Amino acid sequence: MSDQEYDLVVIGGGPGGYVAAIRAAQLGMKTACVEKRGALGGTCLNVGCIPSKALLQSSEKFADANKHFAEHGVKLGKIELDLKAMMGRKDKVVSNLTGGIEFLFKKNKITYIKGEGSIPKAGEVAVKLTDGGNETLKAKKILIATGSESTPLPGLDIDEKQIVTSTGALELGKVPKSMVVVGAGVIGLELGSVWSRLGAEVTVVEFLDRILPGMDGDIAKQTQRVLTKQGLKFKLGKKVTGAKKTKTAVTLTVEPAKGGDAEEIKADVVLVSIGRRPYTDGLGLEELGVNKDNRGIIQVNESFETNVPGIYAIGDCVPGPMLAHKAEEEGTICVEMMAGQSGHIDYNLVPGVVYTWPEVASVGKTEEQLKEDGVDYRVGKFPFTANSRAQAIGDTDGLVKVLADKVTDRVLGVHILGPLAGDILAEAVIAMEFGASAEDIARTCHSHPGMGEAVKEAALAVDGRPIHI
Ligand code: FAD
Ligand code: NAI
Repeated sequence: MSDQEYDLVVIGGGPGGYVAAIRAAQLGMKTACVEKRGALGGTCLNVGCIPSKALLQSSEKFADANKHFAEHGVKLGKIELDLKAMMGRKDKVVSNLTGGIEFLFKKNKITYIKGEGSIPKAGEVAVKLTDGGNETLKAKKILIATGSESTPLPGLDIDEKQIVTSTGALELGKVPKSMVVVGAGVIGLELGSVWSRLGAEVTVVEFLDRILPGMDGDIAKQTQRVLTKQGLKFKLGKKVTGAKKTKTAVTLTVEPAKGGDAEEIKADVVLVSIGRRPYTDGLGLEELGVNKDNRGIIQVNESFETNVPGIYAIGDCVPGPMLAHKAEEEGTICVEMMAGQSGHIDYNLVPGVVYTWPEVASVGKTEEQLKEDGVDYRVGKFPFTANSRAQAIGDTDGLVKVLADKVTDRVLGVHILGPLAGDILAEAVIAMEFGASAEDIARTCHSHPGMGEAVKEAALAVDGRPIHI
């Protein structure tokens, strides 16, 4: 056992854990972070948010060059895909960012320990060091930030070559002729878009009768329409019940979710993207008696402390949306509260963005949720076809939808399908954080020509007075 005692030992160096470690160090805590993957940044930087966005950007450029440059009067010669270079660029983006976090750790004097952590008892973290050997750290407080992993689908054995999770789908060596994506959620649509743009025939099989469950139904329907126009095929209300593999192809058995005749679909590659589950293997939580629910999600109080005093948890392994920015907020608030400060996160205002093109972005309540809650609301919609900037850049698919309380006019939800929707959404998140009404947004001067004007117009439309439609 090393003699020094840490104020805080964080297990897991993802967006939750590394942000918590940096904030703790800023607050004067002696901090260590244990990470087993050999690089900081967690799922997000290594095999999630960042590599997927790098490939989305590169594949979008390829699709643009193939399909849209000519519209802008830009003639190109033969366009070729250099997949190796595209993957190389993605890997460089990842290593730049993960290296950047290591630099931030040094700058903030955080001890970075490479190895697998477990908790033999409160106040102690045992580490199986990556380079061999063991070390036990004394810790006044322990923060679990071990994230999540892909949920497996029985009957489909992941080999990360033919049957892949998102991790394998981020590093395929060649463009498959055909790909089946199981699950029309965020990963399925983002990575399905990447490979479709690069030339694969992509079929998305979804259990429910809609895509993107949890997003506003109207927006999800329009998203499906736009993605279908781009070449993705959808089989909704279907479940995959088995897979047969040969060296070159996978044959899936697909049945209607509500029962009926099975069909077979053949594909070079199958992406399983039916959700993620918390990852807490090997921490010793059962022996410690840390409460988890039946899905393995660690239960915490408002200070992110588990039922075992001195042991805290944040990010994908605790309740709430599995998003990097949610994990970061929780990490910050958790350690600020440890330092005696106060903190709060409004889970209703955690934005969600799907980085397809156009993007899908959402904050607050959906129309379905308002109906279910019996809230009286008004809707304002504005299509990007009527937005001058969208026309100028040539990206007019999509719309902005603002939901506001019928009596108070307070904004309850904003849902956008459109170019850079994720960035446009930020103004709605801030407006809602400050309790804005639709009228507040409608009366705010927006620069012209800008995508944001569509948000203003949708807010005006709540009161039936948009100018440009
Ligand atoms: P993680 O990032 O999973 O980090 C946990 C870390 O803990 C891992 O590095 C793991 O190696 C380590 N660890 C686990 N157990 C131990 C142990 N015993 N000892 C030491 N280390 C351990 N979210 C977004 O907000 N935007 C996006 O665009 C986005 N895109 C995504 C794309 C994909 C393909 C995927 C898979 C996810 C994406 N996400 C996105 C989700 C995002 O990656 C997660 O919500 C986020 O990484 C959660 O952060 P975390 O710190 O809780 O956990
Ligand atoms: P998801 O929860 O977004 O979608 C899973 C989909 O699979 C759902 O539509 C569900 O109905 C469907 N499904 C479940 N079981 C099925 C079955 N047996 N057959 C067919 N369909 C089935 O999960 P996904 O896409 O795997 O992503 C996991 C998480 O990662 C997301 O929820 C999100 O938190 C995070 N993520 C976030 C991103 C972002 O913010 N841009 C990008 C990628 C991932």
